Amino acid sequence: MLEIRNLTKRFGTFEAVKDVSISVPDGAFFVLLGPSGCGKTTLLRMLAGLELPTAGQIVFDAQTVSDGDRNWAVDPAKRNSGLVFQSYALWPHMSVRGNVEWPLKVMKMSKPDRTARVEEVLKLLDIGQLADRYPNEISGGQQQRVAIARTIAPKPSVLLFDEPLSNLDAKLRVEMRTELMRLHRATGATTVYVTHDQIEAMTMATHVAVMDKGRVQQFGAPTDLVDHPETVFVATFVGTPPNNMIPVNKNGTGYKVGGRHMPVTPPADKCMAMYRAETMMLSEAEGETTLPMELVETSAIAGRVMVTGLRDGLRLTAIVDTAPAARIGDTIQFRLPPRPDSWFGTNGERIG
Ligand SMILES: Nc1ncnc2c1ncn2[C@@H]1O[C@H](COP(=O)(O)OP(=O)(O)O)[C@@H](O)[C@H]1O
Ligand SMILES: [Mg+2]
Repeated sequence: MLEIRNLTKRFGTFEAVKDVSISVPDGAFFVLLGPSGCGKTTLLRMLAGLELPTAGQIVFDAQTVSDGDRNWAVDPAKRNSGLVFQSYALWPHMSVRGNVEWPLKVMKMSKPDRTARVEEVLKLLDIGQLADRYPNEISGGQQQRVAIARTIAPKPSVLLFDEPLSNLDAKLRVEMRTELMRLHRATGATTVYVTHDQIEAMTMATHVAVMDKGRVQQFGAPTDLVDHPETVFVATFVGTPPNNMIPVNKNGTGYKVGGRHMPVTPPADKCMAMYRAETMMLSEAEGETTLPMELVETSAIAGRVMVTGLRDGLRLTAIVDTAPAARIGDTIQFRLPPRPDSWFGTNGERIG
């Protein structure tokens, strides 16, 4: 098990990681998801032992490996963890086989054991036929496979990935996702995978931590995040398309939703109403719960149509069966269902 306790990292006065506490079960595929700059790499570097925490502890298999409170950490090489970066540096003067064998030489494995393990790993990543080639003789995607083979060769019990697919083209990225999940099943190694891509997170993870500005907003299974987002940030960052979030304000004796009076019963005078794109509808005419929006985009999605409208900075998305007859730039009516799917307070947290 991987346990992170009250982990904080400061650079000068800037807090890049703020009081993060998470327990990841053995064998999990744990994804750290968040926008650029939210502290993912910093957290991963602390797990790898490349960065000392300012406060808090990291525990691998009941053994403390970093302790910020005591200013102490186990050396990266002695952690039994392997790290794959976004930009992977293979040794240009070594063949594919040489690159994968190198960490095994460093750990002083015997020649026959090394040869057997290299063959095994090359086969696992389906690059056996490239064993004698040099890095400049293979494609970017193949180089990435070699980098992964080199990392898993010493059988680390924790595998760390920092956006390993972001330099690959879209098709290769989808293939490598499947490949990495297969690899995870084959090795059983607890995996920590950093990405800003919520689709990657939702398809690959057993557990996800959504981060924003150094803090973990929510930790759970991908379905938890979709079914029960705890914060506005999670509700609007996760999911395809993301949820609609509309401001609600008390006005006279009633309430305005997205600037229009509507018959709602919110839990606070000022809050946010969340509507899933699937529950949002379109309407021919204005009605009690319609909002006029400028049609900005329609696109086909799995046999249905995703319609996006924009007005005064409010962006709404509905998934409907048929495309509206309107053209881009026309005004169309979005119709809200009688009740939102969730309410959120002005502090960004779910109510109820
Ligand atoms: N060595 C450093 N010194 C100062 N600030 C840093 C350092 N490393 C990262 N940061 C800052 O910490 C924040 C988080 O960075 P990082 O962990 O790289 O984010 P992410 O990987 O999520 O994009 C950023 O604002 C970044 O500028
Ligand atoms: Mg990063």
